[in-house]
Amino acid sequence: MKFFIDTANVEDIKKANDMGVICGVTTNPSLIAKEGRDFNQVIAEIASIVDGPISGEVKATTVDAEGMIAEGREIAKIHPNMVVKIPMTVEGLKATKVLASEGIKVNVTLIFSANQALLAARAGAAYVSPFLGRLDDISSPGIDLIRTIADIFEIHGIESEIISASVRNPIHVTDCALAGADIATVPYSVIEQMTKHPLTDQGIEKFQADYRAVFGE
Ligand code: E4P
Repeated sequence: MKFFIDTANVEDIKKANDMGVICGVTTNPSLIAKEGRDFNQVIAEIASIVDGPISGEVKATTVDAEGMIAEGREIAKIHPNMVVKIPMTVEGLKATKVLASEGIKVNVTLIFSANQALLAARAGAAYVSPFLGRLDDISSPGIDLIRTIADIFEIHGIESEIISASVRNPIHVTDCALAGADIATVPYSVIEQMTKHPLTDQGIEKFQADYRAVFGE
């Protein structure tokens, strides 16, 4: 399983990129709004940091296929690594079909059922993004959806990649890897949590103490 970082914060993206663990970035309208900066400028900066797929979503207020197609074409022009993120609606599927036919990669987002994932894949999505944490939030096990989509794509030889989205903690990450997700898109805070183990910290302290006791600094 590969990792993308799920943020529009350039500093967090730099930190994760320097660690060598991410190969792509996902953003959404809420993450862009949180930064309070111009969309094109933020996306161009991100693309100059990470050499991999960067998902930029059409405006949250654009709901018709024609509007999504026009915006998608503009997003794709920002950088060759751009992926256009489109919400899972009938209009979104129509936009996916057109953009994919033009060679533009599409990430269909806000997926909460296996059927939505199947439709998105058949419309030509390069990526489908099922939201794990938001399903957990309503007491429906999100990981079951990831596993089901992975099984269905395997059975039918579907090549769209599964991006586990709405990943909220390190247990989610391990579960996604076991469930067969191709990618987990993870906030920087979770990547940082994943690096930690109390026995690692204790081990470093003991090695330092033992070394200093004999050799000093
Ligand atoms: C990424 O593609 C999604 O937009 C994101 O993971 C949503 O996460 P959240 O449910 O924690 O907002």
